[in-house]
Amino acid sequence: MMRWPPCSRSLLGVCTLLSLALLGNILLHDLEVVPRELQGFSQDEIHQACQPGASSPECRGSPRAAPAQCDLPPNSRFDCAPDKGITQQQCEARGCCYVPAEWPPDAQMGQPWCFFPPSYPSYRLENLTTTETGYTATLTRAVPTFFPKDIMTLRLDVLMETESRLHFTIKDPANRRYEVPLETPHVSSQAPFTLYSMEFSEEPFGVVVRRKLDGRVLLNTTVAPLFFADQFLQLSTSLPSQHITGLAEHLGSLMLSTNWTKITLWNRDIAPEPNVNLYGSHPFYLVLEDGGLAHGVFLLNSNAMDVVLQPSPALSWRSTGGILDVYIFLGPEPKSVVQQYLDVVGYPFMPPYWGLGFHLCRWGYSTSAITRQVVENMTRAYFPLDVQWNDLDYMDARRDFTFNKDHFGDFPAMVQELHQIGRRYIMIVDPAISSSGPAGTYRPYDEGLRRGVFITNETGQPLIGQVWPGLTAFPDFTNPEALDWWQDMVTEFHAQVPFDGMWIDMNEPSNFVRGSVDGCPDNNLENPPYTPGVVGGTLRAATICASSHQFLSTHYDLHNLYGLTEALASYRALVKARGTRPFVISRSTFAGHGRYSGHWTGDVRSNWEQLSYSVPEILLFNLLGVPLVGADICGFLGNTSEELCVRWTQLGAFYPFMRNHNALNSQPQEPYRFSETAQQAMRKAFTLRYMLLPYLYTLFHGAHVRGETVARPLFLEFPEDPSTWTVDRQLLWGEALLITPVLEAEKVEVTGYFPQGTWYDLQTQVPMEAFGSLPPPAPLISTIHSKGQWVTLSAPLDTINVHLRAGHIIPMQGPALTTTESRKQPMALAVALTTSGEAQGELFWDDGESLGVLDGGDYTQLIFLAKNNTIVNKLVHVSSEGASLQLRNVTVLGVATAPHQVLCNSVPVSNFTFSPDTETLDIPVSLTMGEQFVISWS
Ligand SMILES: *[C@@H]1O[C@H](CO)[C@@H](O)[C@H](O)[C@H]1NC(C)=O
Ligand SMILES: *[C@@H]1O[C@H](CO)[C@@H](O)[C@H](O)[C@H]1NC(C)=O
Ligand SMILES: *[C@@H]1O[C@H](CO)[C@@H](O)[C@H](O)[C@H]1NC(C)=O
Ligand SMILES: *[C@@H]1O[C@H](CO)[C@@H](O)[C@H](O)[C@H]1NC(C)=O
Ligand SMILES: *[C@@H]1O[C@H](CO)[C@@H](O)[C@H](O)[C@H]1NC(C)=O
Ligand SMILES: *[C@@H]1O[C@H](CO)[C@@H](O)[C@H](O)[C@H]1NC(C)=O
Repeated sequence: MMRWPPCSRSLLGVCTLLSLALLGNILLHDLEVVPRELQGFSQDEIHQACQPGASSPECRGSPRAAPAQCDLPPNSRFDCAPDKGITQQQCEARGCCYVPAEWPPDAQMGQPWCFFPPSYPSYRLENLTTTETGYTATLTRAVPTFFPKDIMTLRLDVLMETESRLHFTIKDPANRRYEVPLETPHVSSQAPFTLYSMEFSEEPFGVVVRRKLDGRVLLNTTVAPLFFADQFLQLSTSLPSQHITGLAEHLGSLMLSTNWTKITLWNRDIAPEPNVNLYGSHPFYLVLEDGGLAHGVFLLNSNAMDVVLQPSPALSWRSTGGILDVYIFLGPEPKSVVQQYLDVVGYPFMPPYWGLGFHLCRWGYSTSAITRQVVENMTRAYFPLDVQWNDLDYMDARRDFTFNKDHFGDFPAMVQELHQIGRRYIMIVDPAISSSGPAGTYRPYDEGLRRGVFITNETGQPLIGQVWPGLTAFPDFTNPEALDWWQDMVTEFHAQVPFDGMWIDMNEPSNFVRGSVDGCPDNNLENPPYTPGVVGGTLRAATICASSHQFLSTHYDLHNLYGLTEALASYRALVKARGTRPFVISRSTFAGHGRYSGHWTGDVRSNWEQLSYSVPEILLFNLLGVPLVGADICGFLGNTSEELCVRWTQLGAFYPFMRNHNALNSQPQEPYRFSETAQQAMRKAFTLRYMLLPYLYTLFHGAHVRGETVARPLFLEFPEDPSTWTVDRQLLWGEALLITPVLEAEKVEVTGYFPQGTWYDLQTQVPMEAFGSLPPPAPLISTIHSKGQWVTLSAPLDTINVHLRAGHIIPMQGPALTTTESRKQPMALAVALTTSGEAQGELFWDDGESLGVLDGGDYTQLIFLAKNNTIVNKLVHVSSEGASLQLRNVTVLGVATAPHQVLCNSVPVSNFTFSPDTETLDIPVSLTMGEQFVISWS
């Protein structure tokens, strides 16, 4: 859903221009060639003041900072003017060095002109003592900084929590400050053995963390002075390598650039563009060290912040509030870093099985009749559809928990019909509650007022903004009363319309007026001494006043948690209303979001660039514990093209969350709208996805119980191969499947990286019954024996390349038009042998939607093992649901010599087939998954 209200009413062309123009203005700030220190000065003034060799007083060395002190390599300079552009005089008055970069070339966004000399006063560490869990010390500052309200005495607590997790906090010992209300593990004693060692620098204060194994310094906060003022906290550290990822949400490559990059975290409603703050905030990074070990760092802080990366390489956290609460994860594998991070913020929720099917939505399904037609047209065209959605259209006057009696009069019946044909239904819900109706006409508002659930302004009344329904109040989901109110509203609406999940949009929270309809007060929270690089230049841009009041603190502190808290409230409400596993998809997110909800990447444009950006975004959210993520297939804003939509559907079949969604005035883009050729290509992608759902579901189980990723970057599996580190145009599903999509127009070939090993082409080498009715796939290179190399693959329009990695076994199931049906189909196994003839895999299975299946034991878990020409299943746990699952086919890839005999549970199989060309052994069987079996060949 777009943020600009005119879009709903005017032609999209006009609207897009408008928003682009607006964005242009905003971005000018960053694109300007003038260095930040000099912004606000005229070109003439700049030239006069600071030409190289200029002799004006402003350009001469400072008497306070000796020239030797200022002789730092440009890449190691830390900015002494983060807050504003300043002159040489002002810089020197701060006690900092002023050295202009060569003028005029490459000055933009680069090295700071005004920077800290090594002698710049920082904190001093005193009275370091050991505690049950680590250390504690006092930090004192003798000289104030240039920010108001320095906290001159601080307390450092170091907790050596586990072998691989180090945690330290820096707080004000005298006054309790805001802390993120995230439930984190409590540890009461020090880990007996750790992968890290610590050193402290007394003056200037700093913490050094080393990896014991190789002595590598992972963190060194001595590189720049520590700031801890009331509204400006800065902690800088060196990085052991420039290979860093994380720090979502932003658009761009998976690996960040350390070439003076600034990432701003302040959740914001904006159509995704590079270099701007987007919908979510995840202050976590992962660094790949030379050799392939990895570590991660999480700053548990929800205030508006910038994170600055510089080439030395180094990183500076600059937050506008809260405390410094830092976790360091030692890995040593990148996979373990993710797991260790999720140990702190929480493992992802287990989605219902149907949630992994195909979802279809658009803004503009204006009646229930049209919504029904869409479902019928999908079925008629033989496209799977598990979940039909509606955008704002269903609402009465765009108000939550209502439906339009003219256009959606039979809304409840429509949803019930969907259920009767094995489908599910989801609708949009926005957090902002219409406040304009007369009392007694809109229960959610009346009841919310009565129960005091809304965010309040300076005078203690509900802050009023403007969103889709017009004037609105904003529920405060940090208030327990609001959780109950939301639960009641959801439950009451569900009693009328039995929807199956919630799509929570506009929850940054988005506001069409700045701050409120009454503006915002003029105070320190609205105008902080340091404003991070937010779009719009002010915290209130596109949202509510920073100084408004919430139950737990000010909105200034809690803004970035709005989406997370609404997701939690919605998850809880759905449990109450439906009694089965909740399904929530949210636009705004914060660290730990995956516990309650998935994410879609917002209002992406229908173009090739945004298609390719979606791969790193999906990978990144998986590293952040939000595996249920996808971009709007075919793009949301603007018109798609047939080719783009085919390629996007192919890639979308491998988004963990697969939804096609479209904007109000764009050309239709449902799969059935396109040519028969395009439809065939899309159908093939759908078929692949539905066949692979048992494997995908098993991956989600691994994420839920072990903190694993579902879609994952190559470096997670092959960290010791540096060529994988930057690959972000391919993705893995788990350990076993490598997906190489086409992301450019008019291409029928694609080049992908194949790490060392054997990779089997899933589509040509695994006979799939369902493909019977489709044209046979184009001849592709089949088995790839890679030394770790780039391989160019054939990729005609009907093909997305999917390769199965040797050593893995994946479960598959016959496809159908819904998961209700596909779950009744028999299964098949694809067994990809290594050169030594081994492979293994897993299946997790349950009823797909009940809560508490793990505790209740109502699930089936199987391990498949292949070696020495034998395949067996190990029954880890079997429930009735899994006991009856049929296994009909086993395909073994990499069988070098033709077998004479195949046995299944000691009985000869007569109708096996062997293809010497592809080294494929295909064994029809009639087995039950939940009963022990042995299949062998010789
Ligand atoms: C350090 O400990 C000593 C002795 O207990 C005490 O006098 C001093 O005030 C402490 N310093 C700080 C900064 O807390
Ligand atoms: C940490 O950084 C400081 C300042 O740059 C430097 O002097 C010190 O040697 C570094 N410590 C280690 C262990 O690298
Ligand atoms: C860093 O950015 C500057 C200015 O944009 C550019 O001139 C330089 O080549 C970049 N350096 C690297 C290593 O990318
Ligand atoms: C569904 O298909 C029918 C027949 O082709 C067409 O008239 C109708 O416009 C389609 N409706 C939608 C919403 O796609
Ligand atoms: C606070 O909001 C109310 C509406 O709920 C409004 O009447 C009042 O003027 C606002 N106060 C301020 C200071 O803006
Ligand atoms: C491999 O299988 C054959 C026959 O199936 C058996 O005789 C042999 O002992 C097995 N070898 C190993 C190492 O298990």
